[in-house]
Amino acid sequence: MTTANTRQRLVIGNWKMNGSLAANEVLLKGIRDGSAAIENCTVAVCPSFPYLAQVSQALSGSSVSWGSQDISPEASGAFTGEVSGSMLNDFNCAWALVGHSERRALHGETSGQVAKKAQAALLHEITPVVCVGETLQDREQGNTLAVIQSQLAPVLALGAQMVNKMVIAYEPVWAIGTGLTATPEQAQEVHAYIRAQLTAMGAENVQVLYGGSVKAANAASLFAMPDIDGALVGGAALVAEEFLNIATALYFWSFTFMPSYLYPLLTVVQVIAAFGVIVLVLLQQGKGADMGSSFGGGSAGSLFGATGAANFFSRATKWVAVVFFITTAGLAYLGNMASGSSQQAPSGGLMEGYQAPNPALPVAPPASAVPGAPEGGVSVPAAPVAPAASSVPAAPATAPAAAETAPEVVAPAPEAAPATENAAEATDSEKVAE
Ligand code: 13P
Repeated sequence: MTTANTRQRLVIGNWKMNGSLAANEVLLKGIRDGSAAIENCTVAVCPSFPYLAQVSQALSGSSVSWGSQDISPEASGAFTGEVSGSMLNDFNCAWALVGHSERRALHGETSGQVAKKAQAALLHEITPVVCVGETLQDREQGNTLAVIQSQLAPVLALGAQMVNKMVIAYEPVWAIGTGLTATPEQAQEVHAYIRAQLTAMGAENVQVLYGGSVKAANAASLFAMPDIDGALVGGAALVAEEFLNIATALYFWSFTFMPSYLYPLLTVVQVIAAFGVIVLVLLQQGKGADMGSSFGGGSAGSLFGATGAANFFSRATKWVAVVFFITTAGLAYLGNMASGSSQQAPSGGLMEGYQAPNPALPVAPPASAVPGAPEGGVSVPAAPVAPAASSVPAAPATAPAAAETAPEVVAPAPEAAPATENAAEATDSEKVAE
């Protein structure tokens, strides 16, 4: 039940379009005060742009960092409403969310544009948190992994050098703001897929966060999964105590004294103890002993025995019963910690009819998806088996035509040229359909 990796844990609060100067002040004070007790976990918040000054002032000198909810792929100029990386540098932003599903759905952001934003962030030494996730329709039609692969392809095409400086956040759209959380197993399935792609290109230590109705109650069970390195938190990040409890849940599960064999070990000990009690009680039967006197007492009313009444069997019974109760309490506690996830998440494994790519045999993504990819920088596992044509979802109706003509990044040339020009022209569903 512990995480099997050594990646640093990360919990980021995405405040979305919430907050005010007054409300932020209370929230920031709570986070700042409580964060002192958090270890082994990086904590960050992403407020709306106007509050970056307030947040940077309030959190300055604390262990909590901050970031933006978006970043322009452009360096400067006539891009009304956009905020550039150098502007974010003025406020010491450490992070920039890119490709959040709300921006993909409501603003028509394509995966190609998301890759350009990630690249722009890196140019300014800001860590991009690249969000990917499938809709409920994608999942129900068996397209989850294909959609994730399609969303990731232009980003991974930027090459291992850049990808190694990113964070990926898997946020199933159906779990965002709905109260429906992916079960830890459902989330792990997708995280393992993402990890396989990262590993294939030499970026296995990139943190992969889960997002979608994460709360203190379900955080520990999610964090217990080997490929979940933290959380991108929406609603629960607006309450300091809840947000910090998520980070604490993360910390708790990273204790080394919570090994994965603890649960089965306790179960075995409990079963042995239960049988032991039964055998010991039976051994004392026929000697005038009832249930109570088996534990050393003179009657059933003195279950654990009256002083001086204990013999070897009654003492043994007592201690075996104590072991039974302790293991029962331990199992109940562990079970409770692991059961925080929603029971209402869509059922069904992703892998039905899906052939996972072999991470040992990476192949370049289709040229059409990543034209101009940096030489030697592309090492993406093969795309998942294409879904049946009949099950391909329609292209999102919200993608504006403007998305197809996204201008090039005009920031200083990075180590590699943008690799996503044409990828920006296709929505993810279209690419899946290909
Ligand atoms: P909720 O935690 O409110 O579901 O939002 C998740 C999210 O979108 C974080 O980016």
